[in-house]
Amino acid sequence: MEKSKFFSDGDLVLLIPLNTEKIKDRHVIQLHSGEKFHTKNGMILHDDIIGKTLGSIISTHIGFNYIALDPTLKDIIKHYPKFRYKTQIIYPRDWGLIMAFAGIKNGDLIVEIGTGSGAFTAFLSSIIGPEGKIFSYEVDPDRARIAEENLRNTCSTRNYIIKIKNAEDGIDERDVDIVFIDVPEPWRVLRNAWQALRFGGQVVVYIPTFNQLQKTLKVMLLYGFIDVSVKEGFIRDFQIKPYAVRPKIKGYYFSAFIVFGRKGTFIPIKQIKEALKKFE
Ligand SMILES: C[S@@+](CC[C@H](N)C(=O)[O-])C[C@H]1O[C@@H](n2cnc3c(N)ncnc32)[C@H](O)[C@@H]1O
Repeated sequence: MEKSKFFSDGDLVLLIPLNTEKIKDRHVIQLHSGEKFHTKNGMILHDDIIGKTLGSIISTHIGFNYIALDPTLKDIIKHYPKFRYKTQIIYPRDWGLIMAFAGIKNGDLIVEIGTGSGAFTAFLSSIIGPEGKIFSYEVDPDRARIAEENLRNTCSTRNYIIKIKNAEDGIDERDVDIVFIDVPEPWRVLRNAWQALRFGGQVVVYIPTFNQLQKTLKVMLLYGFIDVSVKEGFIRDFQIKPYAVRPKIKGYYFSAFIVFGRKGTFIPIKQIKEALKKFE
């Protein structure tokens, strides 16, 4: 479907103030004809945006200018108040790395363990398209409900199902392409992940500490996952000032270790024993 070049009633819009570069002063709102949006720089009429070209300059009632754009998923997650956080989420800095190294693509069948707030589910949903499917497991019903609302407000394709279930008690799906795990004790669900995967399928585990990493690696090797690797992504933002273009001094520098592994057709016991020696 061709994307409209104009804003319509019901669209999400990203408003970027032209008087500051502060990211926190950006907003994502949904357009409703007849409504007003109040910023610290004055009020904007939704009807002043509806019908305008993407990228238009919109003025508040006291003359401050905002540029109106179609938001990307990262804008929605950061600036749209209807996207609610109940948990730590996976941030955009790691999305692309996971997608590239796990080979996530259109049409994939994915099991996600730990829906949380649904941020990563929303990203996966945008990648796999209408032919793909995500079965996302969340043990906490309250979190599952909030994630469901977040996804309804964010995803254009209903290619996901949230299951309120502890993945330690089993994963119902079989022959899946990817199992993605973001829970505090990933080693407890690795066996079920193995059973759910197709041969050649990928497991990806998102891990914030060394302590969890060591335990996870040991259990992955024990179950016979092959081609195991650990990666960490680095992103450095730059300040762009006419007199000083250089990396920004402030920022955050660590999110998580990302572990990848694949399911082979046999478990090479000798090799597993050799690999496990690293942990003795
Ligand atoms: C860090 S959050 C996941 C955040 C998510 N990746 C995101 O980007 O929004 C971890 C979630 O896993 C859930 N969880 C923990 N253990 C689980 C298990 N064994 N089965 C299913 N969900 C589990 C927790 O309730 C929590 O909501």
